[in-house]
Amino acid sequence: MSYENLLLDVADRVATLTINRPDKLNALNDRTIAELDDAIDSVLARDDIGGLIVTGAGKAFVAGADIAELAGQGPLDGRARARTGQRVFSKLEQSPKPVLAAINGYALGGGCELALACHMRIAAQGARLGLPEVTLGIGPGYGGTQRLPRLVGKGRALQLILTGEMIDADDAHRIGLVNEVVPRESLMERARSIVTRILAQGPVAVALCIAAVHRGLEGSLEEGLALEADHFGLLASTADMREGMRAFLDKRPPNFTGA
Ligand code: COA
Repeated sequence: MSYENLLLDVADRVATLTINRPDKLNALNDRTIAELDDAIDSVLARDDIGGLIVTGAGKAFVAGADIAELAGQGPLDGRARARTGQRVFSKLEQSPKPVLAAINGYALGGGCELALACHMRIAAQGARLGLPEVTLGIGPGYGGTQRLPRLVGKGRALQLILTGEMIDADDAHRIGLVNEVVPRESLMERARSIVTRILAQGPVAVALCIAAVHRGLEGSLEEGLALEADHFGLLASTADMREGMRAFLDKRPPNFTGA
């Protein structure tokens, strides 16, 4: 598929997916969601990609779903649109490869929800985040009502969802919505350094940690602990575990192969 509204670059096993519709502040129209669907599949399938950074072109990360398209929707296509966006974003969340949102500017509505579906979020100073859907007479449709309270707690999530207010990157950091705030000019360098550090670890261990955290939060503590123990045992079958521990004992850096 050729992309009108996305850029996909790969360097040193780190893919950067840039939402590239800056004249509309990267608003997610149906075409862009379809392109994201295709690009995520490609990132997951390609052996030369170990991790992903999601960002936006220009002054916005993503300023939401495309209001011009939403304006014409009825109940059935509205529901279908939400289900499609949820399915695409869930692929990011369930990716065994680490996914980091580098929030360069406005992350509103579907843009905030896109960032919430990533495993980690860092933001540039001056970025603004929020779920302004209520101001349009709708609610979040791409996972915001579910992922935001899981991340920042019910009360803070409801305040953001019900007021529709935007908060700046520092307040987003204070409530745990983003992990770090960095100067705009350092954003991509910091994003790459985090993903690159993860890629230096054992890839099977990384994939199983992502799965344990994600699936563990969706079930009971007992189920999560059982899953963690299963993964702990499974990792003991890998060459990477033997290499990691031998390297520590030999006082040298490990060389993980994913085996
Ligand atoms: N959907 C469709 N178009 C959007 C958009 C969206 N979510 N967000 C911005 N745009 C478009 C604007 O209509 C404008 O297009 P135009 O130049 O053809 O008129 C262009 O992007 C630039 O936006 P503009 O509003 O002029 O920029 P600004 O700097 O004055 O304001 C925002 C920035 C983010 C405050 C403002 O664009 C905004 O409130 N956007 C909508 C946010 C929202 O409600 N998102 C949730 C959607 S469910």
